[in-house]
Amino acid sequence: MTGSFQRYLRAKRTIDDRALDRRLLGELRETLAARASAGDGPLRVLEAGAGIGTMITRLVGWEVLPPGTTHYTAVDLQSENIAALPDHLDRWADDRPDYAVSTDPLALVGPECRLEIERVDTDVVAYAERTAATHDLVIGAALLDILGLSNLRSLIGTLEPGGAFYFPITFDGGTRFYPAHDADRSVERHYHAHMDNKEGGSSRAGGETLARLQERPGVDVAAAGSDWVVTPADGGYRADEAYALRYILNSIEEAVAEITAGEFDPLEGWLDRRRAQVDAGELLYHTHQLDLFGRVDGSTPSGPDQE
Ligand SMILES: C[S@@+](CC[C@H](N)C(=O)[O-])C[C@H]1O[C@@H](n2cnc3c(N)ncnc32)[C@H](O)[C@@H]1O
Repeated sequence: MTGSFQRYLRAKRTIDDRALDRRLLGELRETLAARASAGDGPLRVLEAGAGIGTMITRLVGWEVLPPGTTHYTAVDLQSENIAALPDHLDRWADDRPDYAVSTDPLALVGPECRLEIERVDTDVVAYAERTAATHDLVIGAALLDILGLSNLRSLIGTLEPGGAFYFPITFDGGTRFYPAHDADRSVERHYHAHMDNKEGGSSRAGGETLARLQERPGVDVAAAGSDWVVTPADGGYRADEAYALRYILNSIEEAVAEITAGEFDPLEGWLDRRRAQVDAGELLYHTHQLDLFGRVDGSTPSGPDQE
């Protein structure tokens, strides 16, 4: 892939910030606050596919995590992401004099909270299976479209009875670009087919996960839209969002070329047009996603995915 995945994860943070559903985040905040006021000890969070840690700083900065100590385990398959996490915390804390990052062990410390962060570069499904029923919250952002529904059971299984799950920015079958181009629908179809073709991948993961969770006894789930809408602003794009757009166009190029075995002739012209529109600050990008939040009451210890 041309481009840095870690820079892409940093660049998409502002897009995620706009997209995340505030009602569900409020419900998450209230759930964690209620647990904290019950005096149940340090909060134990497992983040699956944590990338470079943008969810960590968001949950602290937006005061979603309760005051007190949180043990936060950030798991990602890619060691480069996990390696970049302390740098992300440092950059974030640089602008916030009330917060400090300490290393060895890694911790983010604020006026009222202390996050002790463990970084693990491994497959989160195996990790979740090894740590069954030991977490209060499991998070997986922009993950379930690549992880596969069959692994939902292991992720939820890492929760203690009464634990909560939060799966925001779960892709759900819409990739749109404007101004319109004749090849848009074919590009979208091939791009989604490529997702569906990957083991465990699904271009409709948001709705499928919601349906799966809803039909399970002992699981309470709420959902809301969290579409990405990237629009030009003042002739360019906000923050580093132009980089995110270019990275996505590169991903689409690779995916469509692979799934069509290089036999989709309009691709090159479509990409040239879209890249020129990013350079000119004219491209609008819209994807459809769902945020999912809920709780497990513990009556189904083997998780929501048991058949
Ligand atoms: C689209 S990125 C999202 C990263 C981060 N959640 C964010 O929103 O910035 C998906 C991440 O999941 C990780 N991932 C995919 N499959 C995984 C697995 N089986 N175990 C652990 N991490 C995984 C990838 O390495 C990647 O960093």
